[in-house]
Amino acid sequence: MAFTFFFRDQQVLERVVDHLVPALAGRRHPRIWDAGAAMGQEPYTLAILLAERMGRFAFNNVRIDATDVESTGQFARIIASGSYPREELARLPEGILEKYFEPNGEAGHFRVIEKIRSRVVFQSHDLLSFREIGQGYALVLCKNVLLHFPPRDRIEVLRMFHRALASGGLFATEHTQELPAELSPLFERVIPDGQLFRKREAERCAS
Ligand SMILES: C[S@@+](CC[C@H](N)C(=O)[O-])C[C@H]1O[C@@H](n2cnc3c(N)ncnc32)[C@H](O)[C@@H]1O
Repeated sequence: MAFTFFFRDQQVLERVVDHLVPALAGRRHPRIWDAGAAMGQEPYTLAILLAERMGRFAFNNVRIDATDVESTGQFARIIASGSYPREELARLPEGILEKYFEPNGEAGHFRVIEKIRSRVVFQSHDLLSFREIGQGYALVLCKNVLLHFPPRDRIEVLRMFHRALASGGLFATEHTQELPAELSPLFERVIPDGQLFRKREAERCAS
């Protein structure tokens, strides 16, 4: 079982949303890649934070591609159901349970409401394949995953994220993850006190 929980690194995610929402204005079908999304707690948290900040129409056009290396189908099933035991929802900020979850008929379980569930699509993907799942992403979020990889692999994964991002797209990781210095031609820091980066334009990138 992957260790994670709803609203983990809430401050990091709030900062991401602060910068992402204005950047999404004018994009018709913005896509987000949450890499290492485990059983959905993180992509659903991100979707809830976006729903809090975006108009209904704009929010309904967002798609979060949640990926994880898990291939037994278990993560896919849990994410598609959006159903979690009450204990897992103990740390939700006030009001979020009532607004974004509903009893699902199974004792002690709550389900993420359809408005949020419909924005998150899971697929199995191994980051160490170094093959991006697509291109044109407005945001790639990869938290508490890269630290498990050797430095060389970490660099290749970050290069893959760069390819996956749209021009000016954002990359976010956990507070303690430093970007290797050799990748500074690819990403510029967005905030001084957090690990949020913007893809540099191609002509300014080293090959
Ligand atoms: C500690 S969890 C992090 C979950 C969430 N991102 C968070 O910050 O709470 C690490 C996740 O990375 C996934 N992971 C590990 N190696 C991976 C790989 N090679 N490709 C894709 N996901 C991987 C694990 O399966 C696990 O779900």
